[in-house]
Amino acid sequence: VVARFVMWRCARRLLPGPPPWGRAAAASAGVRAAGDGGWYEGLAGSAPVLWAEGGLLALHGLTGLPWWANIVCASAALRTGLTLPLAVHQAHLFAKLENLKPEMENLAKVLRYEVSVCGKQMGWSEKAARLHFKKNMRRIVSELYVRDNCHPFKATLLMWVQIPVWIFVSVALRNFSVGATCFPTIQDQLSTGGILWFTDLTMPDTTWILPISVGLLNLLIVEMFALRKIELSRFQKYATYFFRGMAVVMIPIAATVPSAIALYWLSSSFMGLSHNLLLRSPSFRRLCRIPRTKSDSDTPYRDLASTFYAKYFL
Ligand SMILES: *[C@@H]1O[C@H](CO)[C@@H](O)[C@H](O)[C@H]1NC(C)=O
Repeated sequence: VVARFVMWRCARRLLPGPPPWGRAAAASAGVRAAGDGGWYEGLAGSAPVLWAEGGLLALHGLTGLPWWANIVCASAALRTGLTLPLAVHQAHLFAKLENLKPEMENLAKVLRYEVSVCGKQMGWSEKAARLHFKKNMRRIVSELYVRDNCHPFKATLLMWVQIPVWIFVSVALRNFSVGATCFPTIQDQLSTGGILWFTDLTMPDTTWILPISVGLLNLLIVEMFALRKIELSRFQKYATYFFRGMAVVMIPIAATVPSAIALYWLSSSFMGLSHNLLLRSPSFRRLCRIPRTKSDSDTPYRDLASTFYAKYFL
């Protein structure tokens, strides 16, 4: 309740200007990415970051856990409460799309025949015939998407939720770590709230263990996606390269941010990986009523291990 009240005061700007400790800490940490009024300040001062800070504090007050455990719990709660349902929705979508494929191929065959008959009667050139085919095929495909309510664009919904949440929580943790927040004691709590080799959560992890683990987990997630039995489209192939690159680029970035953020990234990726594995389980899929597809396997984990082994070690 106290945290809520302070947050409310903050939001209402009853505290005139940024709190002095915040300004001093932010300046001394040299983290003013874009100066006053820059895009970073705009993001860092936005309401969702304030909500993220309030949420983290509320969880801390509720559970009384040390900060490292609080961060792990927060990411587990967010990923399970918010992104797992979306991932289930995405799995529904992919299953529907896969099941639509044979029907689409049949319709394409029929259409190709019709176009060739029509083209002969009308005296179309080859190019004109191809154009007619493409135009009609596009129409048929979009009608099928509407009929089965599975436009592939919806597959990106997960990303549009997951990425902003990840950014807001990261910025909230950064504010906590540098003390640029309405809750002045949090920085001290964080500096003693770590465990193992990262006892001070406000400092970067100099051992690079957290950053490299984050990178490896992210790479594993990308590779698991790339190992699907269905052939990847060209777009998906480029996306795979892009996300591989991102996973590697994230390693040095994770080594320069406070360990609180690196720990959040690590637990978030870990939850992502576990959800990915969970979504392959036949009983979980049945529970969520995800339509069965040809590529469904009764032994998904053994298959995954053997394709993984075949691709990277043979
Ligand atoms: C986070 O820190 C920035 C300074 O870098 C500050 O402008 C912003 O208001 C802070 N956000 C919150 C929600 O306290």
